[in-house]
Amino acid sequence: MSTFYITTPIYYVNDLPHIGHAYTTLLADVLARYHRMLGDETFFLTGTDEHGQKVQEAAQARGVSEQVHVDETVQRFQELWEKLEITNDDFVRTTQERHTRVVQGALQDLFDRDEIYKAEYDGWYDVKSETFVTEKDLDLAEGQSPDELPHIKRIKEANYFFRMGKYQQWLIDYIKEHPSFIQPDFRRNETLGFLENQALTDLCISRPKTRLSWGIELPFDADYVTYVWFDALVNYISVPGYLRDEEMFNRWWPAEYHLIGKDILTTHTVYWPTMLKAMGLPLPKTVFAHGWWLSGKDKMSKSDGNVVNPMDYVEAFGVDPFRYFLMAEMALGQDASFTHEKFVKRYNADLANDLGNLSSRVLKMIKANCDGRIPEVPADALDGAEEKALWAATQAAVSKMEETLEAMRLDLGINEVLTAVRACNKYLEQRAPWKQAKEDDKTPLYQTMYTAAEVLRVVSSLLFPVMPAKMRELRVALGLGDAGPDIEHARQWGVLVPGTEIGPPGILFPRHVEEKKQEPPMQEKNVENTEGVQDVSTITLDDFTRVELKTAEILTAERIEDAEKLLKLQVKVGEETRQLVAGIALHYAAEDLPGRKIVIVANLKPRKVFGVMSEGMLLAARLGDNLRLVTVDGEQESGARVG
Ligand code: MSP
Repeated sequence: MSTFYITTPIYYVNDLPHIGHAYTTLLADVLARYHRMLGDETFFLTGTDEHGQKVQEAAQARGVSEQVHVDETVQRFQELWEKLEITNDDFVRTTQERHTRVVQGALQDLFDRDEIYKAEYDGWYDVKSETFVTEKDLDLAEGQSPDELPHIKRIKEANYFFRMGKYQQWLIDYIKEHPSFIQPDFRRNETLGFLENQALTDLCISRPKTRLSWGIELPFDADYVTYVWFDALVNYISVPGYLRDEEMFNRWWPAEYHLIGKDILTTHTVYWPTMLKAMGLPLPKTVFAHGWWLSGKDKMSKSDGNVVNPMDYVEAFGVDPFRYFLMAEMALGQDASFTHEKFVKRYNADLANDLGNLSSRVLKMIKANCDGRIPEVPADALDGAEEKALWAATQAAVSKMEETLEAMRLDLGINEVLTAVRACNKYLEQRAPWKQAKEDDKTPLYQTMYTAAEVLRVVSSLLFPVMPAKMRELRVALGLGDAGPDIEHARQWGVLVPGTEIGPPGILFPRHVEEKKQEPPMQEKNVENTEGVQDVSTITLDDFTRVELKTAEILTAERIEDAEKLLKLQVKVGEETRQLVAGIALHYAAEDLPGRKIVIVANLKPRKVFGVMSEGMLLAARLGDNLRLVTVDGEQESGARVG
């Protein structure tokens, strides 16, 4: 059994968590879950970076101590990770003693071995990024002096420096000899370009307490605290036991992956490896830098007000669709664009239509036509040409997932799984089990349903790390229990046991219909007329048959804010779920409606009613103030044609 240690950056505790933070953490979570599934002993670490100028200033502005401030703000991250079902094995805070002690131990060791020295610094300091800068680093106009920039100050002070410069050639050689150390390749070239085109200077690793007191005190000089990055990077080794627990440390270090965003490439591929080298430690196997999530085409920024809050999507669509979108949409390494339209489109296409539809179709057909049990099939059930082709598509998805897990292109793996899902939907259309169900010989029907259920089983394993709750639900419905998948089984045909009772065919991913409020009151009036009894003048039979009337079952009903006469209904019409807006709120209480079988016009062009999308119209009979729904007499499935 091999070990798999994966980390995220530790996030600035002062910041409000946003989609960028959520992404790195989710990616680490998905990779950790895959590796656990593969049987690897896995350690997944995330946490918060809690020292530095900004925390000190924010605490002072609030009139509380720094510790009180960070103890509060850290909860925003911890709560979000809980909501997103993140399975981190530990959560580090750089203010914890287990960490500060190790930072001090490492500093003392480096100081004792002359890897750290004291010197006078006379130069420019960027207050915003808390770093020393040269004139070359600044975008100066001709003749402009650095201190004309508001955040640049001249500083003359004694400080401690880490002899980073002496490792320049060693690091260049190391990176060239270990192509997987910095990934993707173009990021490796970026770091090499940086290292090959200028002299690497020593790194100032202290700040005088007169300027900044909120940090880890240098063990050899109580007038100074440690520079935040020298403190923060050490979390990757302090938590798994460096200078604390040798056995534990040997088990986990070096890490398989440090996942980072492209913004912190230099700190992770120049500062960190030289620090480790000076400490005499091996380097992590891979530092993987992903791209940015953009808001449309723009950088997300607080001042532009375009930062996406993960919770908005979690609340509207659920945790799993949010996890799915982030994993499926970003080509790892590249930037990706987040827009509401893209989210809705992918949700409806991949989840509601393809996967959701397949799941409910298969479960429903088994429930209705196979006595609610996984059907028995002959040994050669997989030998038909269609079955073989479908199974090949499913196995291609398994291979692709394995490959893309290694290559860090999960988006491509997920895509291949969806290809298998679509192939299975097509298979069902070709085999038409609803027709096979009417034959006396049930073998072809059982073959179809067993094959499709097997495909769903494999799909549920492959997507389990991405959508753990929904895939668990699906597996439970398939009679597989809730223990989570055994990945070995993804390669095997015939794992589902005939005779196993299946669960209810719930709706995994209800279709999302946009609700945008634009409230012309006239429209409401208008609509209520048409949702009630139509004013029909003489028509031909042809006219009438163009109207598709169908039975539908009301699943949910709720009031629409500010529209006292309208209700929003989710109705089931055969295999699909639709949303209707109906002007019946004065005549029916929303809670009385679920379960009723009604009649709807199914081929009406969807339109917005009071800002809410309506995909059809229900029928009701009205006389004066009395309005009653048109319902079906006795038992009838939803989706049956009325005429
Ligand atoms: N505290 C440092 C990291 C220290 S690690 C030893 C830090 N923190 S941060 O809060 O600014 O988080 C930076 C990380 O958040 C990025 O590297 C990236 O992983 C993630 N993201 C923040 N914004 C992002 C996007 N808009 N898009 C994608 N990820 C980005 O830097």
